[in-house]
Amino acid sequence: MDYLELKEYLGAEMLCVDKALDQAITFIESELESDIGDAIRHGVMSDGKRLRPILCTTAYRECGGQAEKTVYDLSASLEMIHAYSLMHDDLPCMDDAELRRGQATTHSVFGEDVTIRAAAALIPAAARQALQSARKLECGASGAAVVVQELLEAAGAGGMVGGQWLDLLGEGQTLSPKELDELHGRKTGALLTASLVMGALAAAAETETVSALASYGHSIGLAFQITDDVLDATQSAELLGKNPSDVDLDKSTYVGLYGLDQAKEHARERIADALGALESIDIDAPVLTVLARYVIERER
Ligand code: IPE
Ligand code: IPE
Ligand code: MG
Ligand code: MG
Ligand code: MG
Repeated sequence: MDYLELKEYLGAEMLCVDKALDQAITFIESELESDIGDAIRHGVMSDGKRLRPILCTTAYRECGGQAEKTVYDLSASLEMIHAYSLMHDDLPCMDDAELRRGQATTHSVFGEDVTIRAAAALIPAAARQALQSARKLECGASGAAVVVQELLEAAGAGGMVGGQWLDLLGEGQTLSPKELDELHGRKTGALLTASLVMGALAAAAETETVSALASYGHSIGLAFQITDDVLDATQSAELLGKNPSDVDLDKSTYVGLYGLDQAKEHARERIADALGALESIDIDAPVLTVLARYVIERER
């Protein structure tokens, strides 16, 4: 697959992911009072790249998974966790942002109280979504529990939430390279890794394959956040659809620690690591191969 074909692939995948997400949100809306449902829809259905769900569906397929429709339902659970993390990330007590995915942040439209509750409602909804869909995939009922555990661990204190906490504690600090890797690996790498591992587990992939994809995920996760930091330092709010803010918030970033050129070099090295992990196993993974490049070459 070449880069142009990847763009087409991403567009087609996005439509399928959005269909599954829309269904999941319609169900949540039926359970909640309407302003919370509207806030959830605003935060989730806005114009994101859907990278985590697409990593999940792609890993599933490249590991031999066959249940085309149901895997989108599984992948939606990842975007629900991701969207909640963005809704909280933008709150005044965190990064205090007004723009997200090219539109006003959820709390700017619906208020902080509604946004906090709406985002919180997405966490158990995502767990339920993951469990219901994984049960129908190749991993079966017992494997489904492991798939959901991956999601919850990646989202939790040892993963994204803990990484977000380190990110806030890291404001105004000079972290060591090791501490910065730990921060990035948790706040961003954990959920990207879980996306791949969940897809592979759902397809009942060999243990060796799952481990290699976890390693690929960890590497692209670091590269993804380095690139996010590079874009924050170099691009306009208009192009990014969000406000560059790392300097104003005095965040600990790769750009701050190493400078732009070396940060980009680090990202390229992590992609080489990711491709090495893919090559170490015996699966044909043309899309994951090109996706690794996309992680650092993307413009937003
Ligand atoms: C932004 O993630 C937050 C980070 C982890 C860096 P994305 O860049 O994937 O955001 P969307 O989903 O495309 O909006
Ligand atoms: C956020 O990192 C990572 C999350 C877990 C949401 P950032 O704070 O750098 O993400 P952006 O730049 O606001 O999207
Ligand atoms: Mg943040
Ligand atoms: Mg932020
Ligand atoms: Mg950022």
